[in-house]
Amino acid sequence: MSNAVQTDLRAFLAAVEKGGELKTVNRAHWDKEMGAVTEVLYREKVDRSPLLLFDDIPGYPKGFRCIYGMLGSPFRLALGFGLDASVASRDRMALLDQFRKQIKTNKPIPPRMVERGPVMENIAEGAAVDLLKFPVPIHHELDGGRYIGTACAVITRDPDTGRINMGTYRVQVISGNSCASYISNGKQGRIHRDKYFKSGKPCPMAIVVGIDPVSYIAARYTLADTVAELDWAGGIAGAPIDCVPGPITGLPIPAQSEIVLEGECVPDEQVLEGPFGEWTGYYAGDAKMEPLIRIKAAYWRNDPILTCAASQKPPHSHLFERCFIRSAALMDSLEGAGIPDVKGVWVHQAGSGRTFVVVAIRQRYFGHSTQVGMVASQVNPVGYVGRYIVVVDEDIDPSDIHDVIWAMGTRSDPKQDIQILTKTWSSRLDPMVTGKELYNSRAVIDACIPYERLETFPKVAQTSPELARAVRAKFPDVFG
Ligand SMILES: Cc1cc2nc3c(=O)[nH]c(=O)nc-3n(C[C@H](O)[C@H](O)[C@H](O)COP(=O)(O)O)c2cc1C
Repeated sequence: MSNAVQTDLRAFLAAVEKGGELKTVNRAHWDKEMGAVTEVLYREKVDRSPLLLFDDIPGYPKGFRCIYGMLGSPFRLALGFGLDASVASRDRMALLDQFRKQIKTNKPIPPRMVERGPVMENIAEGAAVDLLKFPVPIHHELDGGRYIGTACAVITRDPDTGRINMGTYRVQVISGNSCASYISNGKQGRIHRDKYFKSGKPCPMAIVVGIDPVSYIAARYTLADTVAELDWAGGIAGAPIDCVPGPITGLPIPAQSEIVLEGECVPDEQVLEGPFGEWTGYYAGDAKMEPLIRIKAAYWRNDPILTCAASQKPPHSHLFERCFIRSAALMDSLEGAGIPDVKGVWVHQAGSGRTFVVVAIRQRYFGHSTQVGMVASQVNPVGYVGRYIVVVDEDIDPSDIHDVIWAMGTRSDPKQDIQILTKTWSSRLDPMVTGKELYNSRAVIDACIPYERLETFPKVAQTSPELARAVRAKFPDVFG
């Protein structure tokens, strides 16, 4: 049965607890301990780990909490996005279909502006702003500082069109009332920021660092720049997201948020940002100068919850939903490009949610598999810092690494079936990139049966589904 879409973090946490997937941890320190507890647990249990709610954090009042792993299991993702949680644990491809259907039929609804909301229960302005009032973690041992924004949303307005963007970009605390964010080249928040800077103006920002599940999904989902993420989130929820106009910037602030920082990113002052353990699994990109963000006001609910997502070497606490959301996005991109008969897609966890991608197709014509591989290597979301794209036939489950490697080893020949593309879109976070030229390359591996041999290729040595069903029914005690 489907759930209601979760636009309030507290209601969501109550439902997660009821579902048996919430674990409270008391007395873990903000200085590396919360990050380490999360990492060790997720490394052991991967997407079977509970959501971790840290409370009673040394140096902070009880009730000032942090969470990790908000959507990090099939059940929690289904719960947050209003999908059928009973399908979630059984069948990932079916869950993927549900998710895609919801996104495809989504009719964005603009936010409803309200005068007040729970986020305004506490307000600090000007000199009273103190970002370290919240238990901001050092997430990994070699991080350059405390990161208040990880599972967050940076809200900006396009100075030309007025369109509101919401993107998840890391935010480091620099002082009690200033921070800095790394926004990668090409991201919409960066494009907005650079437009303001080009005309010598500061870029107004509202940074939601305690965020609800649906806004968080919207902020990290790459939408066309014709759609505003908050409108998209309202469409998914089936009702407008209530927003308070930011008293300083006028930007819409989701009223149910836990913690929001409001201010401006300035063109004329830079600070060292980073290093930060990143999704590639490295502290790549090192520390670099980034423009300062001056925080002019902070708003928070009573007993606020800071939402955290520390990227690192996979697996980690937000990798499940990362791969899931990206698989859906890639399927949409392929469909949008007019590619027929894509039967499944999986953006693999071990590839950090970008670098190892598998697409399953029903081959229809000569060159179909090459077309799929080439297009998949360039479109959203793996156009950015992708690496290996494997195309397989529809009898291969793209999410099953054993199936995929078997297909690569038996249906492709490296000499003719691996094509290399050069000068493709990368980032300074890519550990293989050096210098200023942010290129990498792509390998497209065609692991499909050669089209001309589809009828004559050796038969697969595997028990047929009918016989498998029959023996399961006959020997139930063997299969449990
Ligand atoms: C936990 C998490 C952290 C992220 N951190 C960053 C970051 O620091 N910088 C960045 O450019 N993108 C980061 N991303 C990726 C962007 O959020 C993502 O590409 C999003 O689509 C960007 O929004 P935009 O298309 O509106 O720019 C992060 C994503 C997640 C899930």
